[in-house]
Amino acid sequence: MTDTTGGPAQLRARLAATGYLADDGLATACHLALALHRPIFCEGAPGAGKTSLATALAEALDAPLIRLQCYEGIDAAQALYDWDFPRQLLHLRAGHDDTDLYDERFLVTRPLLRALRTSPAVLLIDEIDRADDEFEAFLLELLSEYTVTIPELGTVRAVAPPAVVLTSNRTREVHDALKRRCLYHWFDHPDFARELAIVRRRRPDVSEQLARQVTAAVRRIRGADLIKPPGVAETIDWAEALAVLGAEALETDSGVATLGTVVKYHEDLEPARAALREELGA
Ligand SMILES: Nc1ncnc2c1ncn2[C@@H]1O[C@H](COP(=O)(O)OP(=O)(O)O)[C@@H](O)[C@H]1O
Ligand SMILES: [Mg+2]
Repeated sequence: MTDTTGGPAQLRARLAATGYLADDGLATACHLALALHRPIFCEGAPGAGKTSLATALAEALDAPLIRLQCYEGIDAAQALYDWDFPRQLLHLRAGHDDTDLYDERFLVTRPLLRALRTSPAVLLIDEIDRADDEFEAFLLELLSEYTVTIPELGTVRAVAPPAVVLTSNRTREVHDALKRRCLYHWFDHPDFARELAIVRRRRPDVSEQLARQVTAAVRRIRGADLIKPPGVAETIDWAEALAVLGAEALETDSGVATLGTVVKYHEDLEPARAALREELGA
C-alpha cells in the first residue's frame, strides 16, 4: 500500500488523530515502510505500543485491519487457508461426485490469504516470537512474493501488497533473514513528556496532576531492578485505577494499594513499593 499521507510528519498527525502518539523515529519508520512496501518489524517489551500501532495505522489509512495472532505450533492451515472437511463430506454424502470438492465454497480463508485478497489492508502478524522456525521461514517466503499457490485452485497474487506490521515481544530472537526483509523499529519506553501525553490522551478523565505523578512514579519503578518493568499499558492502568478510586493525586497508601496494576510479579512488589516511597519522599 502506498502511503498517501505525505511524509512522516503528516503520518504522525494522522496517527495522533486516532489517539496513537508516535515519536519522530517511529513515524519515519512507518512512512518508509509504506513508501517502500516493506513490512515494519516492531520489537520491544510488552505494553510498549506495538500491537496498537497496527490498529492505529489501519484507522489512519482507512484500511481494514487483518490480524494474525501467532502461537506455538501455528502452521499454514491456521494462518493461510484450510479446507472445510466436514462440509466436503456432507457434499459427498449428498450424492455429489468428488470433482468439485476443492471448490472455493469449501475454502476456509485465514488471515494471510484474506490479506492478499484485500486491498488496501493492514496486516498485523502479532507476536511472531511465539511461532516456531518453520513458520517464520514460511512467512519470509510469503512476505517476499506476496503470492501463494493453492495446489487445487491456483496462484493467488496480492493486487497490492498489504501494509504489514510484525511484532515481537522478544521472548526469543527472530531470524535475521526475516528481519532483513523488514524495516526494524525498537520500541523503548517513551520519554516522560510523551508518556504523559499518552496517558492524558487515553484517559482524559484522569487529572493532569495525577497523570504527571503516576507517569513519574512508573519511571522511578522502572529504574528499580524488576523482573518485569512496567510498560505504557501499566501506566495507563494505574492512572485509571487511582482515578476510579477518586484520587486527584498520588499518595503512598492508595499508591501501594493499587500497585497490582503496575507490578505483576510477587518478587517485584517490594522494590516497587520502595521506589514509590522514594518518589513521594515518604
Ligand atoms: N504511542 C502510544 N500512543 C498511544 N497509546 C499507546 C502508545 N503506546 C502504548 N499505548 C497504549 O498502551 C497499551 C499497550 O499497548 P500495546 O500496543 O498493546 O503494547 P504491545 O503490543 O507492545 O504489548 C495500549 O492500551 C495502547 O493504547
Ligand atoms: Mg502486543
